[in-house]
Amino acid sequence: MAALRAKLAESRSIISRYRKKEKALLKEQEAQLSILENAPCGIGISQKIYGKVLYLNAEFIKMFGYTIDDIPTVRDWLSKAYPDGKYRRYLDRRFVGLIANTSGSISGVVSVTCKDGTIKQVEVITSILPNGNTVNMFLDVTRRAEIEAALRESETKFRLLFERSNDAIFLLDGNRFIDCNETAVRILRASSKKEVLSKDPLELSPVRQPDGELSSVKGQKMAEMALRDGVSHFEWVHKRFDGTLFPVEVVLTLIPLQGKEILYTSWRDITKRKEAEAKAEQAREELEQRVQERTAELNESRENLRRLSEYLQTAREEERTRIAQEIHDELGMGISTTKMNLSWVSSRIPLEFRDLINETKVIAERLDGILHSIRKICSDLRPAVLDHFGLGAAIEWQVSEFQRRTGIICTCTVENTNPDMNQELSSALFRILQEALTNILRHAFATEAKVSLRKANGKISLTVGDNGVGITPEQISKTDSFGLMGMRERVRYWRGDMSIRDVAGKGTMLCVSIPLKVGA
Ligand SMILES: Nc1ncnc2c1ncn2[C@@H]1O[C@H](COP(=O)(O)OP(=O)(O)OP(=O)(O)O)[C@@H](O)[C@H]1O
Ligand SMILES: [Mg+2]
Repeated sequence: MAALRAKLAESRSIISRYRKKEKALLKEQEAQLSILENAPCGIGISQKIYGKVLYLNAEFIKMFGYTIDDIPTVRDWLSKAYPDGKYRRYLDRRFVGLIANTSGSISGVVSVTCKDGTIKQVEVITSILPNGNTVNMFLDVTRRAEIEAALRESETKFRLLFERSNDAIFLLDGNRFIDCNETAVRILRASSKKEVLSKDPLELSPVRQPDGELSSVKGQKMAEMALRDGVSHFEWVHKRFDGTLFPVEVVLTLIPLQGKEILYTSWRDITKRKEAEAKAEQAREELEQRVQERTAELNESRENLRRLSEYLQTAREEERTRIAQEIHDELGMGISTTKMNLSWVSSRIPLEFRDLINETKVIAERLDGILHSIRKICSDLRPAVLDHFGLGAAIEWQVSEFQRRTGIICTCTVENTNPDMNQELSSALFRILQEALTNILRHAFATEAKVSLRKANGKISLTVGDNGVGITPEQISKTDSFGLMGMRERVRYWRGDMSIRDVAGKGTMLCVSIPLKVGA
């Protein structure tokens, strides 16, 4: 009995130990299950490779949408996840075949069709457990695959751009080429990319650039500028493999590549542009030359005109003087003699012939009138006062004559002038005054005029002002009249200045100034 009791107690203790162990085991299983359940990747456990599906975790269901009811066996999973038979067979060969021959685990990326029809790129890791069950872990890499595909595409695009560019492109690491495109090979007349890349960049330039600077020094400067500012842009002359030279426009751009600072270098062949520039420059020079020749011709013909006008003025002045003298001497003397003869005749007529005596008086008066007219004509032609008393006196006389004839009130100021001034210059200024006074009479409708002649600062200045209607810019530059034009010609001949302007509401003012060292 005691023995039986002892056995019973022992059995109870064994049972309680088992229960404890069972509890611990259950706890451990729960913990493992929770790990599987909360794993961040999809997990599916199946019996053997193609057998019954035993377990799918929450992430699996979320990822693909299938539950155990949808895919009770692995074959059901395969036909739904890979509906394309060809693709399934390909996977079978590549994947399942491998599993059969491999212990441990294998992995690969597959395209899975989800329950809602979308397709996901998934990385699968398959492990076979010692009991023959299979554990599949699925990681969604759709995004990663998309990024990789986009990267591959853009890489292809950039390769194409790089290769097909019309500009030669190089990648420079320090002083070494690390890549170049086909255009670079063509432009340099090299046989291959390898040949180009084997060269030191300096071997592709002449020793000096067209501005005389050493290519090595200038190239270094340009590279430093690109490294400092990110980009540099300049013109350069390069040397081909056959030794010929050609001009290019270079752009150096700093780019970070694989942790290094690389210079992306592009050359544009500018031979044609340079030729066009040279042609344009030559055309410009030819044009310049033609303009210079034409200007010289124009200057010469203007000088000829000036000389002609000077000759005409002088000839006119001399002619006037000669005619005035002849009229004065011949006509004047003749009439004076006739008058003396008449007076002799008259003194001998007997007193009873009163009528005859009276008639001779009338003739004598007429002869006086003719003599007066002759004097006036002579002085209009060439005022004797100009030759005998100088410009100042002649101007004073002319202005007072003008006032007497026209009734326009005149003021005349003559200061500091020299009676021995050059005769020709005196004539020129006198004629200018005469034309200015004629213009006042004809165009100004003035009631007053002011004339002044002054010598100061090595110049002689004549001003003629009026209080008339004023003058417009169009009238000043009239080309079908000769008064102002003649004045300008005379002034230019004496290297002087002339201005004629409208004195806002107060008439017109003419100023002429001539440097004396030339003429006086
Ligand atoms: N003092 C003045 N007041 C107002 N207008 C004037 C005066 N002087 C010249 N002008 C204007 O300037 C124009 C040009 O003068 P200019 O002496 O060259 O020619 P003109 O007197 O018309 O003709 P020409 O002198 O050839 O017989 C005149 O037609 C007149 O309209
Ligand atoms: Mg005139």
